[in-house]
Amino acid sequence: MGTAILTHLQASTRAEASLDASARIRLLRRDRWIDYPRASQALLKLESLLEMPPKARMPCMVLHGDSNIGKTLIVSKFQREHPDRFDEVKGVERRDVIVMQMPATPDQHRFYSALLFELGAPHSASASLSVLERLARELLRRIAPRMLVVDEVHHLLAGTYREQRSSLNLLKFLANDLKFSIVVVGTADAPLALASDPQMISRFTPFEMPRWRESDDLRRLLGAFERVLPLRKPSDLMQRPIAQFILVASGGLTGDISRLLNEAAALAILDGSEQITLAHLEHVALADQ
Ligand SMILES: Nc1ncnc2c1ncn2[C@@H]1O[C@H](COP(=O)(O)OP(=O)(O)O)[C@@H](O)[C@H]1O
Ligand SMILES: [Mg+2]
Repeated sequence: MGTAILTHLQASTRAEASLDASARIRLLRRDRWIDYPRASQALLKLESLLEMPPKARMPCMVLHGDSNIGKTLIVSKFQREHPDRFDEVKGVERRDVIVMQMPATPDQHRFYSALLFELGAPHSASASLSVLERLARELLRRIAPRMLVVDEVHHLLAGTYREQRSSLNLLKFLANDLKFSIVVVGTADAPLALASDPQMISRFTPFEMPRWRESDDLRRLLGAFERVLPLRKPSDLMQRPIAQFILVASGGLTGDISRLLNEAAALAILDGSEQITLAHLEHVALADQ
């Protein structure tokens, strides 16, 4: 099969389109990053926070949106863009961006454990809070991060009011002491998780990741998916009935758009049609119900 005809695919996907069915279906499951304007804006915002010179009250950000909209992927991409590096002068490993998850049942002990885990610091589970705290702060001082990202911050809401306050105080204390920006990431409830502390609220600029609506941006996103799905024929996902169906079936969530398209692409590979049609999409959506 010639590759010259595969102009509906991006260059790196063209070679993959000639692989056999099972290899291509495996490829569908791999992680991929697709750019879209709101994600680029979020990344720019993170970048500008990272560029802030250290000062007493570092600006912070709350990145919020429904589950499966793409928040964690944005954070991972940002982290990849700022890999660890070795500081030759000081002879230490430097990490600009630390990403951790708020524990599902948050308290200070679990928080420090999660942070130390992220810092790659082994510690005894039975260590006291003050030991963990000292260890964490010592390490942070050495690594000198410029940003701490706490994902799944809505988990805070699972705690009592008192636990919420103490976890927030802990974050504030770390940020002030070590002069880095904090980015909290979570569902629409995330801003609520900060609400028990008025000082926190004023410091955190909200950035929302909205669900997709019918728009040129959505059509462009679908076009971008089409270019990376290893199908041999164009599907024309940007056409109105298909775009509309995908929007409704996915609820406008990037994760569901991605899954729907992966599964439809697998069907199109298996039945030999090599292009996603409305029928494939309906089949996948129906099977989900
Ligand atoms: N930029 C993107 N490019 C490709 N796929 C994406 C992108 N953003 C999200 N997805 C898809 O959506 C899924 C959910 O994204 P995730 O970042 O985990 O959502 P959230 O953290 O908001 O719950 C991902 O596993 C991926 O399949
Ligand atoms: Mg997430």
